[in-house]
Amino acid sequence: MEQFIDIKQIHSACRKCKSCDLSKTRSNVVVAKGNPDAKIFIIGEAPGEKEDITGFPFVGRAGKMLHSVLESVDIDPLKDCYITNIVKCRPPENRRPTNDEVSSCLSWLETQIHHLKPSIVILTGSTAVKGYLGIKDPITKIRGSWITRDGIKFMPIFHPAYLLRNPSKEKGKPKWLTWQDLKIVKKELDLL
Ligand code: URA
Repeated sequence: MEQFIDIKQIHSACRKCKSCDLSKTRSNVVVAKGNPDAKIFIIGEAPGEKEDITGFPFVGRAGKMLHSVLESVDIDPLKDCYITNIVKCRPPENRRPTNDEVSSCLSWLETQIHHLKPSIVILTGSTAVKGYLGIKDPITKIRGSWITRDGIKFMPIFHPAYLLRNPSKEKGKPKWLTWQDLKIVKKELDLL
């Protein structure tokens, strides 16, 4: 792992990355937003159009949804969390990142986690779970339970874009389940 002094150095090096072909079509590298000192680290999938234009993750509709579900359990998205993606550049047409793109980007995420040492990592959706933990189980099966690795507690949840497609708040539906999952996260946060 390349040696960096601090997170600012990591962010600026990441903004210059040309490790894969997504660097040819991106407008901006989307590194992170939020609080680097936060105990919660959130991993999304990849930037979309708005993220590519602004250079910040989760600023479009999925971002609004993510903020709203976090706020529903009294977690402040920008104060209590540091938010990034498994892949830092927008895949054309918002397609899923390929395995090769995830692999070539992974060292940035590992470096971010290594430096920030979060207590809790929220993984949104199966691409993040598979990309970071190598677990291929469907998100429906693994969401809502802690997975501990290297002393860090990982909580898989549904991706916010999935919640946009399934907006019902009814008990047992994805949004309600995500609320339960984040209540577990909030309880853990309050214990730290
Ligand atoms: N915006 C992001 O930054 N990441 C996602 O996974 C979805 C939308």
